[in-house]
Amino acid sequence: MPPTPPPLPRALARTPGTTLRTRIYRACLDAIVDGRMAPGTRLPSARQLAADWRVSRNTVDDAIAALQADGVLVRRVGAGTFVAQAAPAPAALRPPSAFARTALAEVSRWSRRAAATHAPGAVPRAHAFVAGLADLRAFPLDRWRRITATRLRTGGSALLGYPPSAGLPALRSAVARHLALARGIACAPEQVAIVNSAMQAVDLVVRMLLERGDRAWLEDPAYQGLRATLAMAGVRTVAVPVDADGLDVAAGIARAPRAALVHVTPCCQYPLGTTMSAARRAALLDWAARRGAWIVEDDYQSEFFHDGRPPAALAALDRSGRVLHLGTFTSAAFPSLRLAWIVLPPSLVDTFEAVRGQLDHHSHAIAQAVLADFIDGGHLAAHLRRMRTLYRARRDALVAALARHGVDGTRLVAAHAGMHVALRLPRGRSDRAVTAAAAARGVAVMPLSRYARHVRVSGLLLGYTALDEGAIERGVARLAPLLR
Ligand SMILES: Cc1ncc(COP(=O)(O)O)c(C=O)c1O
Repeated sequence: MPPTPPPLPRALARTPGTTLRTRIYRACLDAIVDGRMAPGTRLPSARQLAADWRVSRNTVDDAIAALQADGVLVRRVGAGTFVAQAAPAPAALRPPSAFARTALAEVSRWSRRAAATHAPGAVPRAHAFVAGLADLRAFPLDRWRRITATRLRTGGSALLGYPPSAGLPALRSAVARHLALARGIACAPEQVAIVNSAMQAVDLVVRMLLERGDRAWLEDPAYQGLRATLAMAGVRTVAVPVDADGLDVAAGIARAPRAALVHVTPCCQYPLGTTMSAARRAALLDWAARRGAWIVEDDYQSEFFHDGRPPAALAALDRSGRVLHLGTFTSAAFPSLRLAWIVLPPSLVDTFEAVRGQLDHHSHAIAQAVLADFIDGGHLAAHLRRMRTLYRARRDALVAALARHGVDGTRLVAAHAGMHVALRLPRGRSDRAVTAAAAARGVAVMPLSRYARHVRVSGLLLGYTALDEGAIERGVARLAPLLR
């Protein structure tokens, strides 16, 4: 028989950033929820706990008083403190996988498919060569902290209420100015709506503009999250191949001439990294204007155009009001911020705000206010300049390391923009097999075929933006023998 664990830990867990009172509160609650202290169990005296945990008696009293107020502990005068009969029972805790297995039979077809390709609990972390991660160590956190403190002081309780569904006016104006400078887009602040993420923007756009069963063109290959988002809205996606000039507009017209919407990544195709040619841009705008179709221009990672200037955004070229332009602060600032923007044609602004208002209503107001000040103070532009220099050097380091280790540079699909490079594998090599072999050597890569629907591609995505040059070299040294 394994030894029974003590009801309460002998030492308090060291959790940085939490107070002693919180740690005591949690230690007691965990012991009750885990079943180590059943209802009716008597707690050691506060004096004893204070001595065991080397904390003041007052702190223990404080935590116990909070648990009493929650109804988890009860005090009986003259007898001591006990776990309440109605305290949470351990049976309430079932392992999540048990839930997942039973739920799969009951959920919609779309969710089942989304769940099949999603690894629960998988959180991307800075490790060679996980793609799309900003170098968070380089973010000016001190500046962010100071702006947050000032905003909370000056904004006061006004920041705690409901902000407008389309976003705080200060942030909408800041984004409009930023886009005018960075992307040549001339739009009024009222055309900018603030959302939580690029994917939420796509979700809202599809709900607003399409009916179930409508067709939408999606690049092939494309980010899987997009396919899932469209499918969950009941939209039929038409996979349109991408070549060195970007989305093949003629192929799209041949496959689905009456599509209602197209999602494209013209600046930096995701995941290949190619840039759409001027002729293809013109052809796409022309088709959309004639057909009355909507173009969702996803400007993902356009901040990191390493060689030369990024090409004009479709939203800057559009004369027919058919382009909805979206971008995200996930890569420009940091992922946990959960803020993104969409620039809408004036005719759609009110409906978009109404649709958002009916769903989750708005994005985090304090984060929006802080971000507006961060942009208006010139700190976003300065941060992006620093990151472009840093990422370009890392891109160069990756390309040089691949060459040094005998990987032919012509295998790179594109490396001039974005936060990863896509590398073609020699004909006949399975990218999934190479991915598994790389994982066995401690290197994380993404197989290109995971993003493809019909086109046959075999390659790897190598992210480099969160890695210093030493980590890039070590990663390539381990990976290269699998690529030759
Ligand atoms: C094309 C594209 N757009 C948007 C995103 C994600 O943006 P967000 O984090 O704002 O949802 C991704 C993620 O990889 C992507 O590939």
